[in-house]
Order: sequence, then structure tokens, then C-alpha cells
Amino acid sequence: MTAPTDIKKGLAGVVVDTTAISKVNPETNSLLYRGYPVQELAATQPFEAVAHLLWHGELPTADELADLRREERAHRALAPRVRAAIDLLPLDTHPMDEVRTAVSVIGAIETAGIDSVLEVGGSPADNLARSIRLFAALPAIVAYGQRRRRGLEPIEPRDDLDYAANFLWMTFGEEADPVVVDAFNRSMILYAEHSFNASTFTARVVTSTLSDLHSAVVAAIGALKGPLHGGANEAVQHTLDEIGDASRVGAWLDDALAQKRKIMGFGHRVYKRGDSRVPTMQAALDTLVAHYDRPDVAELTHALEAEFVARKGIYPNLDFPSGPAYALIGFDTLTFTPLFVASRVTGWTAHILEQAASNALIRPLSAYDGPAERHVEGYVPDAAAL
Ligand code: SDX
Repeated sequence: MTAPTDIKKGLAGVVVDTTAISKVNPETNSLLYRGYPVQELAATQPFEAVAHLLWHGELPTADELADLRREERAHRALAPRVRAAIDLLPLDTHPMDEVRTAVSVIGAIETAGIDSVLEVGGSPADNLARSIRLFAALPAIVAYGQRRRRGLEPIEPRDDLDYAANFLWMTFGEEADPVVVDAFNRSMILYAEHSFNASTFTARVVTSTLSDLHSAVVAAIGALKGPLHGGANEAVQHTLDEIGDASRVGAWLDDALAQKRKIMGFGHRVYKRGDSRVPTMQAALDTLVAHYDRPDVAELTHALEAEFVARKGIYPNLDFPSGPAYALIGFDTLTFTPLFVASRVTGWTAHILEQAASNALIRPLSAYDGPAERHVEGYVPDAAAL
């Protein structure tokens, strides 16, 4: 049995399985998706091609990309029953709860009629098709959530726009400038996959019981929502809004650190000298700052990063530049983590497919530190309590 000294809290530093999907390398501060450096993919590929790479292990041929685009565009529209489910929720429901609910409804509808738990796992072909349909459906769900909160009707998708441009079209109702589309596409690629992070490992745990893909994605959404994980990009914007401008960074940090607050968007369980994705996302943010002529955003983010790194030696993670980038594009702060879901659903489903193929139940051990064995006859309840 595991002695208490063997315990690795949070599984920090523990290698629990292999994966061929991505390699996070803190020593070289690098990230490879199926062997390709993520910064090369972000600079050259449409997100659809990277989704194909994560699912199939190779970048698509022209025909394969055309096939994926056809399938994705055929499933972009907000399904009436999904819209009806979202409309049942209070208008001030957190968007991550809307997205979690929508995916659950999609799963229930897609797998209706399967009447044996032995069949819920689905074949690799079923699950790849389900993955593409979720990949296609999430932009409409996220876009509708923001528009509903603003009292606006949903916007129909456009088949003449690629994934990133159509996502922005459905959210804002106008064709985005190519500079904005490119920055958004890069963010989708950077958020897509990151080995056994908390939400991905959650999806793998659910899949390891031979449960279904949608249950695994719903569980992953729940894990991503937390501010120590995906919720951090929303929390970064709350922090920047709270500070206000660069001149107030020092005083704000004095107060936050005195309260032992975690500064959102900084630190990482694996990267300890900076997140490999930050330079690429920072460059995208810089492009947006210039495009929207918002030097104040650059001044504030640079001041907070410089001050916190100087004080604690803890570096920004991907969520730090992503938050202000999404704010500049016009997304509501509460929409930020659902954007992470729309991207990470490709990584999650690639891991679901990989875990299902390995067919190994994930069930770690625990070291008991509760009361020694005792017996009920010793239990005499206080008569008054009954
Ligand atoms: C993501 O795993 C992934 O790959 C995740 C992700 C992905 O793509 O899936 O990269 C996405 O989740 C990025 C992380 C987003 N979260 C945040 O930005 C929240 C703020 N960050 C911290 O909560 C923290 O950095 C973690 C949780 C991300 C990582 O923490 P670790 O590795 O468990 O390190 P730790 O909490 O043990 O910190 C070590 C020390 C502690 O000080 P002491 O208690 O030892 O004195 O550093 C301090 C921490 O308090 N610290 C921070 C801090 N991060 C670490 N102090 C203040 N602010 C921070 N952000």
C-alpha cells in the first residue's frame, strides 16, 4: 500500500501515461502538436487544419481539408433544441454553464436510442464524427450566449467564411478585419491542446470507464471553468479592469500580495520559466493593440507583467495575453473561457479517442488517514438527538 511519503499531491510531476498528441517541454520551453512547433502552426495554418492534425496525427491534404470544412460547415447552425435548452436558463447564467448544458443536450440527442451502457462508448468512427460536430457547433453556442445576454438574436453562420471568420461573424454580425481574424485564429490554435492538463485528464478519466464522449467533454468543461485553469483568462480581465491603469499596478500588487491572492494569468504547473505559447499570443495582442489603437492596454499589461515578474519571478501563462486580446476584439469577459472550450474541444476529443483505444481504467490509490477501525456497538446516540 502507498506510504504517505509516496504521495504526489495534485499528481505534480507524475507521468501517468504516454500520449502521441502533444509534447510540453519546460526544459526547452516548447510545445509540439504531433511533432509540429505550435508557433509554426499558429503562423501558417487555419484552425481547421490543426484540428485535423490533432485528431488524425497529420496535417490534412487539400482534399482532406476540403472534406473537413464541408462537414464542419454542415453542422455550424445553432440547433433549435440546443437553443431552446439555453433559453430555459436564467439570462445571467454563467456562459460556461450554458456551454456545459448545451454539450450535454447535444450528447443526449445524438445518443438517444442507445439502450445499453455497454454501447455508449461508441466506435472510433462514431466519436470522430461526434468530435467534428461539437467542433462545428460550439461557435454558434458561444456566440448565441453573448448575443442573448445583450438582447440580440442569433446570427446564421456563413458557409463562405472559414472557422475563425465565421465565429466572429456569428458573434458580432459583421465581417471582421483580416488582422482580427488572424489574431483570433492564432489564439484558437494556441488554446487547442496541452497534454495532460486538468480538463484533458478529466476527459481521459471519464473515457477510461468506457463512458461516452459527450460525458467526457461535459466533465472537462467543468474542470476548465475553475480560475486555476481555464477560468483564468476571464479572471485576468477582471484583474485588469480592477487595476484600471498602469500607474496603479504597484499599489494594487502590494494589496493583492498582502492578501496572498493568486495573480491570474501568471504561473504554471509545468512551465516554470514562462509558457511557450505566450510569445506568439503576445505578438497577436500587440497586433490588436495597434489595430484598435489602444496603447493603454499595452501599458497596463506590460506594467503588471514587469512588476509581478520582478517581485515574484513568476511568468505569464497563455491566459494573460489572451484576456486583453479577446476584450479588444469585443468579446464579453464572461465569454472568454467558453472561447477556450471551443478551441480545447479539439484537444479533449483527440485525447478521448486516444484513451478509448488504450482501454485502461484510470483509478489511482489513496493513503487512509482517518479514524482507526471501530465498531457500531460502541455508538450510543444521545437520546435527545433522535
Ligand atoms: C492553464 O496545466 C496546463 O497545461 C493548463 C493550461 C492549459 O493549456 O491547459 O496551461 C491552462 O490553466 C494555465 C494556468 C491558468 N491559471 C492561472 O493563471 C491562475 C494563477 N496561477 C496559479 O494558481 C498557479 O500558478 C497554478 C495553479 C497555475 C500553478 O500552480 P502550481 O504549479 O501548483 O504552483 P503552486 O501553486 O504550488 O505555486 C508555487 C508558489 C506558491 O507560493 P508558496 O505557497 O510556495 O509560497 O508560487 C506561488 C504559490 O502561491 N504562485 C503564485 C502564483 N502562481 C504560483 N502566487 C501568486 N500568483 C500566482 N499566479
